[in-house]
Amino acid sequence: MPGLFDPLELRETEIRNRVMVSPMCQYSCEAEDGLATQWHHVHLGSRAIGGAGIVMSEATAVAPEGRISPQDLGIWSDAHADALRDTTAFIRGQGATPAIQLAHAGRKASTRRPSDGGDPIHPADDDGDSGWTPVGPTTEPYPHDDPLEVEALDQAGVESVVDAFRAAAERALDAGFEIAEVHAAHGYLLHEFYSPIANTREDDWGGDFEGRTRLVREVTRTVREVWPDEKPVFVRISATDWMDDGWTVEDSARLAPLLADDGADLIDVSAGGIHRDQQVPDIGPHYQVPYAERLVEALVDSDCAVGAVGGITTPEGADEVVRNGRADVAILAREHLRDPYFTLHAAEALDEEGPVPRQYRRGF
Ligand SMILES: Cc1cc2nc3c(=O)[nH]c(=O)nc-3n(C[C@H](O)[C@H](O)[C@H](O)COP(=O)(O)O)c2cc1C
Repeated sequence: MPGLFDPLELRETEIRNRVMVSPMCQYSCEAEDGLATQWHHVHLGSRAIGGAGIVMSEATAVAPEGRISPQDLGIWSDAHADALRDTTAFIRGQGATPAIQLAHAGRKASTRRPSDGGDPIHPADDDGDSGWTPVGPTTEPYPHDDPLEVEALDQAGVESVVDAFRAAAERALDAGFEIAEVHAAHGYLLHEFYSPIANTREDDWGGDFEGRTRLVREVTRTVREVWPDEKPVFVRISATDWMDDGWTVEDSARLAPLLADDGADLIDVSAGGIHRDQQVPDIGPHYQVPYAERLVEALVDSDCAVGAVGGITTPEGADEVVRNGRADVAILAREHLRDPYFTLHAAEALDEEGPVPRQYRRGF
């Protein structure tokens, strides 16, 4: 089995090591226009300097109404691609692979950013906040204390979501990204469709497993269609809803090979987010890694790789996950907030050759 510092080849894209910076919302488009700012450039750029193999952007909205908060990053116009181009060039210049998470927040859209309290912003609010009506599989809202009205997507609405993901992927490619990740986790739109907790539709987009998973599969195929053959597509899923009668790890084990058939090259295995009544287990070290291991098993007959995320914080722990084949890539979020140079420090700890930038050699 390879270790953390062995390169990974997906399609014809070589990734220099198996550390990925997990997508992390920065809520930093202060102008509320979804355009990348200096914050995004420096934040993502520092983690490329820090040695990670893949530097993934935060959830980047494919449509304005698909933002979680007004300050989310977006990719719904050519100007959005233009604003990201220098950043992808910089990341590539450091030897890292630039990746973008394409997202639609569904019924969890239109909330204040967490640092402003995270409450829903109603469209009628007259205090200068710019809220909007979120869309979802049904009119059932996310159970906030003060829920928003939700518009149920009709057939044309579902098609417009697929079109928005297609256009976003085309723009992301134009902006210089090498990997496109479809965000289908954490209770956002695509997860809302496959979870029986949020999708009680009776048409072709709901009902049984096949109907509920139709949208995430359609979006994955659509992104694959416009993404070049030599470049990878990832899909982040919630492996379980952590709820009775919800989506389960075994459902994910059934879905993963279908997503691989649809063109996914890596399943990024997260969990939860569909409902506030979820029963989250102890968030200890490596708390979601067993789900990734189950999907490695489910994907044994395919070329599709698996990424593990959740509670991975140490070089030894990240290396153990990869070396024992529990996943192909170790994905770290909060540890990368504490240490943008995690990979360089990990190389020192594991006695490996790290990708130290020439300018930093006197420090490492
Ligand atoms: C500040 C912050 C922002 C996040 N934003 C996103 C996001 O944009 N997309 C996503 O899929 N997950 C997001 N997450 C979840 C992380 O990517 C990750 O799955 C989670 O934090 C568990 O990994 P960790 O234990 O390494 O932090 C976010 C997490 C944090 C801490």
